[in-house]
Amino acid sequence: MAEPLVLGIETSCDETGVALVRGNELLVDAVASSMEEHARYGGIIPEVASRAHLEAMIPTIQKAIGEADVDLSEVDAVAVTAGPGLVGPLTIGASAAKALSIGLNKPLYGVNHVIAHACVDQLVDGPLPERAMALVVSGGHSSLLMVNDIATDVTELGSTLDDAAGEAFDKVGRLLGLPYPGGPHIDRLAREGDPTAIRFPRGLTAAKDQAKHAYDFSFSGLKTAVARWVEARTDAGQVIPVHDVAASFAEAVADVLTAKTIAACHKHGVDTLVIGGGFSANSQLREMAAKRCAEAGIDLRIPPIRYCTDNGAMIAALGSAVLRAGVAPSSLDIPVDSSM
Ligand code: KG4
Ligand code: ZN
Repeated sequence: MAEPLVLGIETSCDETGVALVRGNELLVDAVASSMEEHARYGGIIPEVASRAHLEAMIPTIQKAIGEADVDLSEVDAVAVTAGPGLVGPLTIGASAAKALSIGLNKPLYGVNHVIAHACVDQLVDGPLPERAMALVVSGGHSSLLMVNDIATDVTELGSTLDDAAGEAFDKVGRLLGLPYPGGPHIDRLAREGDPTAIRFPRGLTAAKDQAKHAYDFSFSGLKTAVARWVEARTDAGQVIPVHDVAASFAEAVADVLTAKTIAACHKHGVDTLVIGGGFSANSQLREMAAKRCAEAGIDLRIPPIRYCTDNGAMIAALGSAVLRAGVAPSSLDIPVDSSM
């Protein structure tokens, strides 16, 4: 029997994503983004994002269906991001998914966006092993997940207590006068800087933090340390070595993320690590993770960047996994949950 055809809808932030997945095979991944509008304001404006989703939803569904050359009636299930994310944008995706589910008389699966960032790797690298670690890092989340079964058994070992990794980059970008989002700009500058020039703090790595926060992250102290360092030099009339500041800051973030993740792999006896989320584009994180995983004998899986940023494919992939695992569908009055 053919694997079920799942349509996935993602609207948790600024990307309207619609994808079709059959089993672990991606048929089409259509996406519309309102990032250009947000860049003008220097951050995501939920109201602007909601309106953009509303306008993009039906054309993006039509695009996905057209490109995959399937009829809507062939869809076996509809998956949608139920959370976490912005309430307005989530509600628009959920409303579209519920309408499709009712109209097609097919089951609805509300899925978790952060878990979906790890699950999308299955479309690229094949099924995940029975036990894997997942580090999901973006502008909105920094979470470490123990994946026993991607469809039914995922535990969050830790997450950020304040800023997400990408968010910290964007804030440091702002203080260095870089355009929004600052993450990719810092990455570019960092490649020409000395990562050992300045020793910035590594949040929650002190011995006293190990009992409660061994796998949690904190980047706001680091961001403040960078701000103070830059301020002090500026006040003294010195030129800011932006490449070295960027490289040293990025080094601190990559160091903490990889050290804690690999420690979690050792502690839980796991030898596969998936990294997902838009921040996984970061060069220093990629290099450090590759080096440290190789040393630790951990198989590192990072999907291509277009699957790491928010997209419909990740939601369809998790919907497909959940459906195939025999999990009961969501009820049609499933609420969206911004802090899921
Ligand atoms: O997953 P994503 O596209 O959107 C969400 O936040 O959900 O992630 C975007 C975040 C932004 O904060 C952006 O600045 C950061 O990831 N980012 C980077 C890089 N590329 C994207 N940060 C550092 N280095 C990069 N190369
Ligand atoms: Zn995301």
